[in-house]
Amino acid sequence: MLNLGRPRAQPRSTRSMPFGGMDYPDTKKKSSFVGKILLVAALTALCILMLKQSSTFNSPSPFSRHEPGVTHVLVTGGAGYIGSHATLRLLKDLHRVTIVDNLSRGNLGAVKVLQALFPEAGRLQFIYADLGDAKAVNKIFSENSFDAVMHFAAVAYVGESTLDPLKYYHNITSNTLVVLEAMATHGVKTFIYSSTCATYGEPEKMPITEVTPQAPINPYGKAKKMAEDIILDFSKNSDMAVMILRYFNVIGSDPEGRLGEAPRPELREHGRISGACFDAARGIIPGLKVKGTDYDTPDGTCIRDYIDVTDLVDAHVKALEKAKPKKVGIYNVGTGRGKSVKEFVEACKKATGIEIKVDFLPRRPGDYAKVYSDPSKIRQELNWSARYTNLTESLQTAWKWQKSHRDGYGTPVASSY
Ligand SMILES: NC(=O)c1ccc[n+]([C@@H]2O[C@H](COP(=O)([O-])OP(=O)(O)OC[C@H]3O[C@@H](n4cnc5c(N)ncnc54)[C@H](O)[C@@H]3O)[C@@H](O)[C@H]2O)c1
Ligand SMILES: *[C@@H]1O[C@H](CO)[C@@H](O)[C@H](O)[C@H]1NC(C)=O
Ligand SMILES: *[C@@H]1O[C@H](CO)[C@@H](O)[C@H](O)[C@H]1NC(C)=O
Ligand SMILES: *[C@@H]1O[C@H](CO)[C@@H](O)[C@H](O)[C@H]1NC(C)=O
Ligand SMILES: *[C@@H]1O[C@H](CO)[C@@H](O)[C@H](O)[C@H]1NC(C)=O
Repeated sequence: MLNLGRPRAQPRSTRSMPFGGMDYPDTKKKSSFVGKILLVAALTALCILMLKQSSTFNSPSPFSRHEPGVTHVLVTGGAGYIGSHATLRLLKDLHRVTIVDNLSRGNLGAVKVLQALFPEAGRLQFIYADLGDAKAVNKIFSENSFDAVMHFAAVAYVGESTLDPLKYYHNITSNTLVVLEAMATHGVKTFIYSSTCATYGEPEKMPITEVTPQAPINPYGKAKKMAEDIILDFSKNSDMAVMILRYFNVIGSDPEGRLGEAPRPELREHGRISGACFDAARGIIPGLKVKGTDYDTPDGTCIRDYIDVTDLVDAHVKALEKAKPKKVGIYNVGTGRGKSVKEFVEACKKATGIEIKVDFLPRRPGDYAKVYSDPSKIRQELNWSARYTNLTESLQTAWKWQKSHRDGYGTPVASSY
């Protein structure tokens, strides 16, 4: 995958010449003990030299050195939905990207699409590794020169988090600590963290601002809040530049249709509303189940703030540009407008052109009536605001990809890497 970009002939010829020269003194002065000692010493020295040379010649990776004007971003979870879209944008903006992902949830197919788009040496590198493996993570940091880290990798399903909380504390909180420690050890100074509106829990007042008290009500939100706390404590006595982005509900996909959202089929039952809507449109599931029609909202169904992935990725780029040493920025990333589940379902029918069957059921425990953001802080400080705010159009884009990728990215073949 790495293009070494240097001819191998040069190190080979430097290697063979000294050996040829050594043969002569050896045959002429057979009995000289001192000579032999000298020879051994000389050979040892040469071996060391060779090893040094061959290692520098064999790995002149552009990823291992800083280059002025090029930001080398480590994207954890880059094979996943949001991470792959972020990688595409970073590469389009001429940055250098290393993806670290263990494909437990992501798709190698997404990485392959990105590699095909940016095949040049020194643009995109994929490293298969588990962020829970501190040794492996440290090795990655010592072999690469990162300028910034965007930490997307996580498990991210509220329902699953209540069934398997340890998985969440492990793969969110503990792995964030591993990444942060590696950054501290290796002097990487910019950190962009994927957090979530789930860290707020059920606030009484809407819209949610960044100073709304955080009181998460499920292990997913709690694990993310704990990770935020670790990051904030660390940053108090460090010169790291930190940006924490709290996303609301992410939807949509690349407007040019190169990437999409393709969660594992086994996660369907935990799935998000957009996935369920497409599955229903494709007939994979019989229809949509809307749980709760008696909430204190205009049409009785829950209200959420849906943010298009293209806008979300743009917020990351702006956060990266504006990140400053010793400064922490915490931002909500949402549209500032809530849409009801009924509105979402109507948008989905319109986007897919399919008359999806909808069952209205009683409330599900643990759901809150209204969640939407006040995005004015990010608008004022990062000059970011959502532009893809038409639900139907975001879903149309995503549906186009879904229709042409019935099997997602296909079955990932991890062993080929
Ligand atoms: N999708 C949303 O609506 C939403 C909302 C708020 C926050 N977020 C956050 O955004 C981030 C990305 O979410 P997504 O929707 O793209 O999820 P995703 O599951 O599509 O991507 C996560 C990626 O992380 C990788 N990963 C997980 N554990 C790993 C480990 N231990 N080592 C290496 N790689 C690992 C997975 O293989 C996957 O590719 C997450 O941190 C999530 O909590 C998502
Ligand atoms: C991903 O990492 C986890 C540990 O967090 C590990 O148990 C799992 O086997 C890994 N998955 C793959 C596909 O390598
Ligand atoms: C998360 O952590 C658990 C250990 O608690 C591990 O078994 C699992 O494979 C990890 N990764 C994912 C994606 O679940
Ligand atoms: C803010 O963003 C808009 C739209 O992207 C741009 O036209 C404008 O110049 C930006 N303003 C500042 C102060 O950077
Ligand atoms: C959203 O987009 C759809 C499809 O392009 C269009 O019919 C609709 O009028 C738009 N809605 C708004 C509020 O602009």
